[in-house]
Amino acid sequence: MTSVKAVIRIDRFISNATALSRSQVQRVIRAGRVRIDGVQIKKASTPVSLDAEVYLDESMVAPPMPRYFMLNKPIGVVSASHDPSHRTVLDLIDVPRRDALHIAGRLDIDTSGLVLVTDDGQWSHRITAPSKRCRKCYRVALAEPLGDQQATRLDAGLLLRGESKPTRPAVIERLSESELRLTVTEGRYHQVKRMFAALGNHVVALHRESIGELHLDHSLEPGAYRPLLPQEIALF
Ligand code: URA
Repeated sequence: MTSVKAVIRIDRFISNATALSRSQVQRVIRAGRVRIDGVQIKKASTPVSLDAEVYLDESMVAPPMPRYFMLNKPIGVVSASHDPSHRTVLDLIDVPRRDALHIAGRLDIDTSGLVLVTDDGQWSHRITAPSKRCRKCYRVALAEPLGDQQATRLDAGLLLRGESKPTRPAVIERLSESELRLTVTEGRYHQVKRMFAALGNHVVALHRESIGELHLDHSLEPGAYRPLLPQEIALF
């Protein structure tokens, strides 16, 4: 079996692994002070494998460690890196090099619950790529009680407005007349709200409880986050 080594640009490698600013990194590279596996480089875009030996002058630069967080997104916060008028999920995370982080699976502004944040693109791809069919479980409150026929249609798959491919079967667990747990294996735009709209119902509250086998830590207040444990990272 062949193994694929992660490769990134040398400027990103150094700025993720040191306290140097982006412009300082560009300068040291242009000045010829960086060597990859013994070879001097001068271009910031030079690709480097994460297991290469990188030297800045006479000091070895340790490879950057990827970071992984779970966050309990409050209502009113947007799943974006920057937003002109709202607080973003990344605004809530107070760590160095926050700009390098991204969200693995967005939630709407009025949805709360589990959001995963990382700077490891391959890891987040395993969560978000449609082909991976990663399970997402939501707690849903509806405007109208859920009828048996509606539940059957969720299980069979239904056509969302403007789309030609039916949804994949969704699993429901009834919690009360108009509250349920819904598990889906897709992440289409506004998927859950559009599924219930297609049934003539309306979602009044939506909260993500889990992604795959990873559950939101109940000790996290809305807006709080924590690093993932090694065994949680290994789930994806
Ligand atoms: N489905 C939605 O409609 N909204 C979300 O935020 C997540 C899933």
